[in-house]
Amino acid sequence: MEFLRHLVVLVHLVGFALLFGAWAVEAFGGRRHITRLMNWGLAVAAAAGLALAAPWGTEGELNYAKIGVKLVILLVIGALLGIGSARQRKNGSAPSALFWSIGVLTLVNAGIAVLWV
Ligand code: HEM
Repeated sequence: MEFLRHLVVLVHLVGFALLFGAWAVEAFGGRRHITRLMNWGLAVAAAAGLALAAPWGTEGELNYAKIGVKLVILLVIGALLGIGSARQRKNGSAPSALFWSIGVLTLVNAGIAVLWV
């Protein structure tokens, strides 16, 4: 059971890597587009994160305040991806404040995951 939970953590990390990696490619490539890979990364991180939010395969107590904050931030990132893609379709590019917020909030969620104990 514990092994299975670690496997789901690995999937969760793959989701984070896809989202943040896809964002970093755009940020450093200078194109600053919202891409499909970002949506996939978010979906994978969300599905695995929700599975990890249930108390199975773990000895310790779960920190539900932390999990709740991460869920709210994930929903905000999802909204930004949605609004950004729509604006991109209309104007050819997403507003830069919106684009940067996606990367920063993704990093904030990873920071909360590892620093909030
Ligand atoms: C963009 C969104 C997210 C990012 C970047 C992210 C990032 C991370 C990272 C890097 C870890 C590993 C921490 C460690 O091993 O100590 C982690 C663990 C975890 N995440 Fe997330 N996360 C996100 C969304 C969510 C959501 C939405 C939930 C639940 C609703 C969630 C629940 C969890 C839980 C419960 C763990 C701990 C797993 C364990 O040690 O048993 N995450 N997250």
